[in-house]
Amino acid sequence: MDKVGIPEVVLNSGHKMPAIGLGTGGSTLPLAEQLPLLVEAIAAGYRHFDTATLYGTEEIVGQAVAEALGRGLIKSRDELFITTKLWCTDADHDLVLPAINESLRNLGAMEECYRMGLAKSIGVSNYSCAKLSTLLENATIPPAVNQVEMNVAWQQQKLMEFCKDKGIHVCAFSPLGAYGFYWGNNAVMESPILKDIAVAKNKTVAQVALRWIRQQGGIPIVRSFNKERMKQNLQIFDWELTDEEVGKIQQIPQLRSCYPTDLVGPHAAQYRSLEELWDGEI
Ligand SMILES: NC(=O)c1ccc[n+]([C@@H]2O[C@H](COP(=O)([O-])OP(=O)(O)OC[C@H]3O[C@@H](n4cnc5c(N)ncnc54)[C@H](OP(=O)(O)O)[C@@H]3O)[C@@H](O)[C@H]2O)c1
Repeated sequence: MDKVGIPEVVLNSGHKMPAIGLGTGGSTLPLAEQLPLLVEAIAAGYRHFDTATLYGTEEIVGQAVAEALGRGLIKSRDELFITTKLWCTDADHDLVLPAINESLRNLGAMEECYRMGLAKSIGVSNYSCAKLSTLLENATIPPAVNQVEMNVAWQQQKLMEFCKDKGIHVCAFSPLGAYGFYWGNNAVMESPILKDIAVAKNKTVAQVALRWIRQQGGIPIVRSFNKERMKQNLQIFDWELTDEEVGKIQQIPQLRSCYPTDLVGPHAAQYRSLEELWDGEI
């Protein structure tokens, strides 16, 4: 448990990561309006934030941390776990921190960041079992985390088992199916199975969806910039889904929410197609 009572997992880097994170990618709120809400999130108990160069939110996360320190909400930056991501187009030979990809050159660069203390743990994102296998064959420092889409409507059983076996934690992005986002769908939030379970347990659909991820061993990275929903999403650690409820959730039809077709193709830095990106697996 961290100081605010959120359970933590221990990564293969030895560092601890709070078992739920607040996502900062995809909000349409102006950054100036997101900033005070990030401070509210720290006040509410979030200690794990997910950002990326691509999201344009690294700076406001930094500002929120500074404000939280100033207001005494946290005593030290060490109390926070912040994930950021280098984008594929940064995988250029003359950049100091090239994005991780399958080539040894870039892998070596990421390991150097870790050795220099610039990054406490190295993770990857959207890596299939095939890509992880290649990485593990070549890496000196294995990835601590693989961040992929995971939710009740995209359950990732094969990848979960592979990662568990290799000591890699899975962070679940779009845990609510990117509800309301342009590439999201309603398969999670409007699932009749989740709705029934939520009513029976006096929980919300979102809480059931997040709790299911945690019970599978995943770490949900959930985005809400609504104060009440932020708090609600943290309330998933003092109750459980029964085996019967988990069994019902296994029956939910599978429908991925994330289809980033705009990020692959002949113009893209790395992958020509979604098939190439996911190896038909994730
Ligand atoms: N690595 C990658 O390739 C990748 C890809 C996608 C996302 N991500 C990361 O994962 C994070 C989360 O994924 P996501 O943003 O796609 O989607 P998500 O967390 O599945 O869904 C976010 C949506 O759900 C709503 N919501 C949150 N809590 C709710 C609740 N309790 N009840 C009802 N609605 C609720 C939010 O609205 P309100 O704000 O109004 O509550 C927002 O519209 C991102 O922010 C980003 O950090 C990573």
